[in-house]
Amino acid sequence: MVAVAILAAGRGTRMKSNLPKVLHQLGGKSLVQRTLESCGDLTPERRLVIVGYEAQRVKEVLKGVEFIHQKEQLGTGHALQQLIPHLGGFTGDLLVLNGDVPLLRPSTLAQLLQTHQKHQNAATLLTANLPNPHGYGRVFCHGNNLVSQIIEHRDCTETQKQNHRINAGIYCFNWPKLAAVLPKLTANNDQQEYYLTEVVDYLEPVMAVNVEDYLEISGINDRKQLATAYDILQVRVKDGWMKAGVTLIDPDSITIEDTVQLQPNSIIEPGTHLRGNTVIGSGTRIGPGSLIENSRIGDNVTVLYSVVRDSEVAEGATIGPYAHLRGKVQVGEVCRVGNFVELKNATLGEETNVAHLSYLGDATLGDQVNIGAGTITANYDGVKKHPTSIGNRTKTGSNSVLVAPIELGEDVTVAAGSVLTENVQDDSLAIARARQVVKKGWKPKK
Ligand code: UD1
Ligand code: CA
Repeated sequence: MVAVAILAAGRGTRMKSNLPKVLHQLGGKSLVQRTLESCGDLTPERRLVIVGYEAQRVKEVLKGVEFIHQKEQLGTGHALQQLIPHLGGFTGDLLVLNGDVPLLRPSTLAQLLQTHQKHQNAATLLTANLPNPHGYGRVFCHGNNLVSQIIEHRDCTETQKQNHRINAGIYCFNWPKLAAVLPKLTANNDQQEYYLTEVVDYLEPVMAVNVEDYLEISGINDRKQLATAYDILQVRVKDGWMKAGVTLIDPDSITIEDTVQLQPNSIIEPGTHLRGNTVIGSGTRIGPGSLIENSRIGDNVTVLYSVVRDSEVAEGATIGPYAHLRGKVQVGEVCRVGNFVELKNATLGEETNVAHLSYLGDATLGDQVNIGAGTITANYDGVKKHPTSIGNRTKTGSNSVLVAPIELGEDVTVAAGSVLTENVQDDSLAIARARQVVKKGWKPKK
């Protein structure tokens, strides 16, 4: 039986922020969300999150967990003391995670738990040898990874600081044994806090397990470490996609959130950013210079220097350069959306083109429609938005304005420069502009 406890009560003074540290965002998710997700397939019996500073805000972002309040934040040991009344009768192992250590792999935690259970340890903790161990607690061992002491950086002597083996803040405890010693903690240290790490002095045996990839246990205490964690995450995500058959051109200039799904044989060009619940199809080329957020892009699509948000683009379409799709746009197969076109809440059928300088909002277009350069849907009367619908094979001339609400039927032709305010039936030509007047022999008065 396993329970998980996440320490998330601290303010995170070094972030210099009113937002609780564990709510700072890392690649589209909060730190504490990521910590929780690192439990992966462990399916713990109970999931407890210790909250304190701005507890309400932390509670709002986490689902399906129990919250334990730590009214005053008197240290990591004090935080775990709060569990005692809630875990009475629990006889299993307790996995303790720091809410500010967001890059752990589920496999690492599974391995920690396995070692802990195999050796029937009182406690097992993750350690790493860091090139720069500044700020971390140092782990002192005797013999074969048996921990004798953990000393916080600020409490170390100069000689002790030479030990680069650090405490990751990730532990597995035999809960009854931990519960028995938690009340013994003192606050005899530089910060006068109750340190969880002091339990090592009372438990036996305590084993240290080195992580293979020390980047996993990076803790976030300040903005610089937050930025570093972002880089680590990006390298991990991008390496993963390259291994899976995605081409990234100049990967350092590309960002891909770990919520994004890509198909093999897609090509991501420089300066492109893929965010949120985005899916990119096979044979598709995105970029250079594009932002895709919460959107589904089909197979064999190209998107060049464009922004696509909350939208869907079907197979074989081309978008851009310099197009902006936002707010539930659906682009059908083999459509062309070109230069300086903005689409908002618009549906395009198949093989429909909007090639230049248009704004289409709240519009529904059929198949093989051709929108002439500079066509605008006037969808807003200053109070309400109104819909426009355009039938199959209809063509609008350059610089037409379609004043919504309006319906154009199928096979309609709209003359260039028209301002249409009334519906047009199938198979018609609509001209709505002043007739040209030419005054022969006219000269300006001198
Ligand atoms: C802690 C460890 C240190 C380790 C490091 C790894 C202790 C004493 N030290 O130090 O050995 O190298 O993590 O990242 O444990 N928290 C509470 N309540 C409190 C205090 C803290 O919930 O009263 C939470 C914080 O919100 C945070 C986590 O515990 O998520 C760690 O606290 P922090 O102050 O960052 O500990 P470190 O100094 O980093
Ligand atoms: Ca920390």
